[in-house]
Amino acid sequence: MPAPCHAVVLAAGEGKRLGGPVPKVLTPLWGRPAVAWPVVAARAAGAERVVVVGGQHLPAIRKALAGQPVLFATQALPRGTGDALLCAAEALQGAAGPLVVLYGDCPLTTPEMLAALVEHHRRTRAAVTVLTASLPDPAGYGRVLRDAQGHLASIVEERDADPDTRKVTEINTGTWVVDLPGALDDLRAVGTANAQGEVYLTDLVAVARRRGRTVAALQWPRADEALGFNTPRELAEVRSLLRRRIVEGHLAAGVEIVDPDSAYIDADVAIEAGARVLPCTVIEGDCRIAAGCEVGPFSHLRAGTVMHAGSEVGNFTETKKAVLGAHVKAKHLTYLGDVTVGAGANIGAGTITANYDGRAKHATVVGERAFIGSGTVLVAPVEVGEGATTGAGAIVTRGSHVGAGETWVGVPARRLPARTKPA
Ligand code: UD1
Ligand code: CA
Repeated sequence: MPAPCHAVVLAAGEGKRLGGPVPKVLTPLWGRPAVAWPVVAARAAGAERVVVVGGQHLPAIRKALAGQPVLFATQALPRGTGDALLCAAEALQGAAGPLVVLYGDCPLTTPEMLAALVEHHRRTRAAVTVLTASLPDPAGYGRVLRDAQGHLASIVEERDADPDTRKVTEINTGTWVVDLPGALDDLRAVGTANAQGEVYLTDLVAVARRRGRTVAALQWPRADEALGFNTPRELAEVRSLLRRRIVEGHLAAGVEIVDPDSAYIDADVAIEAGARVLPCTVIEGDCRIAAGCEVGPFSHLRAGTVMHAGSEVGNFTETKKAVLGAHVKAKHLTYLGDVTVGAGANIGAGTITANYDGRAKHATVVGERAFIGSGTVLVAPVEVGEGATTGAGAIVTRGSHVGAGETWVGVPARRLPARTKPA
């Protein structure tokens, strides 16, 4: 049973070093905005109240986290990580006990790591507990300084560090546990005497020590889980580690992934054991893939794709909001958007659902066991009945209803008269 605690995710920084059009904490990471990762981890670790501190991008953060049971707080100006935590004070009113502090740009955090940190905090009866890690290349991180007894003495930001301090490889991961409500009081005593003139959360260590409180540090052996991203290079590294973690999760659950190095699967995709994912495949959003399905090679499944048991999507096929019944096959060069395909239907090579008329998206319905000929264009809204056939290259125009068992061919597609048996 996880220990009761609360959590704050700091996400009000400007992310200047990353650049780019999207606020850093909303950077999409496998279908979730970066800030959602620590939120999900905190919840999984048992946090009761989760407060997200946002700045000028708070409205966008609220939107991105819609549906998550979190509280929001505002830091009007990014005056530092310590100041950001103080901005959560109101949302934390009445809360007591351990508060987990997380940074919105550290998405690799795991619930196990948070639980271990809270546990260490309790055991050592500390007022402040810092999670540290040892990195071969600590550039950019705050360095952890220990006193002669090996106790945590202070944290020095790279910008404020002298050459000797920069050589220290033990870093502040940015994941902390502090005691409510006392820590907020200590934090108010932290000054802004640093290179950036900000209130650094990291200076809480020195203040708490000065006030005679116990300050603890837990060095986490899986340093990867502590990485943040400030630069495009670090973002690429974080993405790659998260991707691998998602893939490992599916492998452990019994999904066959032929080439784990080229499977790009979003965090909230559901795949049943016994499904196969072939190389160079992208599966996004909330896709659901049942047992016995096969995806790839070179397939792109976008949000809203549901594959029922035994259905197959193959080479250069893109799907979006596509519900494929059992044993449907769409194996080559196809686009299926806003479509429902009945069980057993075969979608010929090069079939396209023309779902967009320049203004709105329209739906396509393909009945069970229908046979869609190669190169068919289905101009939505359109319906193809059960067991119906379209000829190769047919253009089934907008509003058409191909009746059950009928065959339509040509451009524009017309019904072939049913063959009569020779007398
Ligand atoms: C911070 C730590 C550093 C640590 C590193 C770990 C401080 C002073 N430094 O540095 O010791 O090694 O993280 O990744 O804490 N934020 C706010 N308001 C602000 C400033 C930042 O909410 O005024 C948020 C940011 O959105 C971000 C997080 O806090 O999610 C960390 O801020 P960032 O500027 O990235 O800190 P680092 O320089 O990486
Ligand atoms: Ca950072």
